[in-house]
Amino acid sequence: MTTQNRQLRSVVTGVGSYLPSRVLTNADLAAMVDTSDAWIVQRTGIRERRIAAEGETTSMLGERAARAALQSAGLGPDDIDLIIVATSTPDYTFPSTAAQIQAALGMAHGAAFDLQAVCSGFIFGVATADKFLRSGSHRRALVIGAETFSRIIDWSDRATCVLFGDGAGAIVLQAQQGFGTVEDRGVLTTHLRSDGRHRAKLYVDGGPSSTQTVGHLRMKGREVFRFAVDMTSDVVKDAFAATGITAADLQWFVPHQANRRIIDMSAAKLGIDPHKVIATVHLHGNTSAASIPLALSVAHDDGRIKRGDLVMLEAVGGGFTWGSALIRW
Ligand code: ACO
Repeated sequence: MTTQNRQLRSVVTGVGSYLPSRVLTNADLAAMVDTSDAWIVQRTGIRERRIAAEGETTSMLGERAARAALQSAGLGPDDIDLIIVATSTPDYTFPSTAAQIQAALGMAHGAAFDLQAVCSGFIFGVATADKFLRSGSHRRALVIGAETFSRIIDWSDRATCVLFGDGAGAIVLQAQQGFGTVEDRGVLTTHLRSDGRHRAKLYVDGGPSSTQTVGHLRMKGREVFRFAVDMTSDVVKDAFAATGITAADLQWFVPHQANRRIIDMSAAKLGIDPHKVIATVHLHGNTSAASIPLALSVAHDDGRIKRGDLVMLEAVGGGFTWGSALIRW
């Protein structure tokens, strides 16, 4: 290869996650609202979720995940020059959760900002960091998904309160030279979409500029479900078309962990072997922007995802937003 063919790639060099210690089981929820373990498991696959302790904020969860990802990469905060936090449940309206995490890590250099695309936030964060790193402006990024959805749940609404949980996950992306082929390690392609006309199907009914309150999550679950499978397929097919990679070439499919039925139906529609699907939703419920890095962290730590593997990430979230990222690990 000549030097002209060389191209910067954003390579995943570390992954980490953090879940709060308090477990809320389906049985616990059945004591709070009119629901049952059987209904929740059958409709969603969720068995338990974690709830942040009083005073434990999104930035605290994110910092724990970031430190775990840095350790996994063998790096320290001084090595990072970009922090992107995907969250819809920031500590404050401002400053950003990313700036809080930057300070907690003891960093006073580089840039840190939040990005909001609800459950697709981590994919949007990876795509954004990838563009920074490939431009050469930054060298090593922490991309963090961190949420405390327990703080925006209406705990009297059985249709939503059984679905969500708190948590955080993070990856380190590092600029490395590749050759511009799909054999390169790193982010190979990303595809982002949004369509704001769907707001009424999934939204929070408050905010600083509208109600001056934080608000609660509201969702028309059946309508979200219907769109989710189709939108997932579209952006994953975009990634296949952009790279020439097929479902058969993938080692792993790591979708947003919202609902086991959506995960399985999406994989089936795309022709992805069920054995290639990473699903951790039973352990932590829907943690929105944190769910994909949480799943990555589990599958990396248990040895499933290995260097060189082709990993397809995808998510759908409020907005609607949706996206995919194809990564060679
Ligand atoms: N326990 C028992 N019954 C319940 C519960 C519950 N927790 N919640 C709803 N029900 C009842 C409903 O009241 C309804 O009763 P009815 O028939 O007497 O009216 C019945 O169960 C069926 O309700 P549906 O909402 O139609 O149930 P559905 O099969 O669609 O499952 C679910 C609901 C699990 C929410 C499903 O629609 C879903 O997973 N949707 C996608 C949600 C999702 O993934 N959202 C996250 C998107 S990502 C983001 O950006 C946040």
